[in-house]
Amino acid sequence: MAQLTVISTPANVFRTRPASSFYHDVVQGLRAQQKYLDPKYFYDAAGDELFQQIMQCPEYYLTGCEMEIMTQQSAAIAAAFSKYAADYDVIELGAGDASKSIHLLQQLIDNGTDYTYYPIDISGNVIQLLNSSLPQQLPQLSFRGLQGEYFEMLKYASTISSRRKILLFMGGNIGNFSPAAARSFCQQLRQHLQSGDLLLTGFDLKKHPQLILHAYNDSAGITREFNFNLLRRINRELQADFDTSKFEHFPTYDPQSGSCKSYLISLCAQQVHIGDDVTIPFRENEPIYMEISQKYDPVEINQLAAFGGFAPVAEFRDQRNWFSDCLWQAV
Ligand code: AVI
Repeated sequence: MAQLTVISTPANVFRTRPASSFYHDVVQGLRAQQKYLDPKYFYDAAGDELFQQIMQCPEYYLTGCEMEIMTQQSAAIAAAFSKYAADYDVIELGAGDASKSIHLLQQLIDNGTDYTYYPIDISGNVIQLLNSSLPQQLPQLSFRGLQGEYFEMLKYASTISSRRKILLFMGGNIGNFSPAAARSFCQQLRQHLQSGDLLLTGFDLKKHPQLILHAYNDSAGITREFNFNLLRRINRELQADFDTSKFEHFPTYDPQSGSCKSYLISLCAQQVHIGDDVTIPFRENEPIYMEISQKYDPVEINQLAAFGGFAPVAEFRDQRNWFSDCLWQAV
């Protein structure tokens, strides 16, 4: 439930208005000329659960591809870590349930590497789950979960670890930035690293457009529910009245730019209220832009590394060449 602040209107009538940044971001996005919602808000407890289900969907190949890389190439990845770094800690951005990185963490333990694992996640729910699951899965692992925004937590991690950093940013999460935002994200990451630190990033590669579109339009409708869940969250936490039956999930993919974008389309002219004060008008067929899942080719990946201040040093792909985990070194 959002915090409520009592405010005084010009007529000196007291009303309540949600004061969270969630409220602010939602109202700003829905009042914009081209309506949008920030996809970081997908991940409440129900959203986390739906995302877990998406990762099990047969059409959503990304997880399986990266799992194959982690289960079959962890020894090679660990060898590349030792080739380019010594005495390091491992920090994972957007760790989720760590079900992929756990294979790499196990490999590092098997190799006798002395390191601490710092999983960072915006979701308190995710960090709580890791706190209870990691000691059972990897009893020898030294770890400390950090809940919060990436850069804030990365800064904090530097205050508690003086070792070299190896950053993991997997799962194709970089695809959830527009290409311009990905460039500035990489530059910002670089500013939080020392020269010589390493970054392992997962990229979903460009492939047949239909495969990509199906991954974001699964036949069981889980991805549709994942998008609708954000409207339900707004209803619940910000006292809004979205009727999800009046919206349609509409994913698109442009094979030239590699941009896979999801929209919710208003099926009729309607008004949605948020709390007492805000009314959002929708035209029939008006879209809300929900999320980008950008796909890359190898040239674009290397250009991104150079722009961010990194040198690519190794690459690990699944057998079908659908997904790539790239190891970059901060220059
Ligand atoms: C978390 N991220 C990499 C997912 C993706 O593929 O863009 C989020 C997602 N959205 C819909 N399906 C999966």
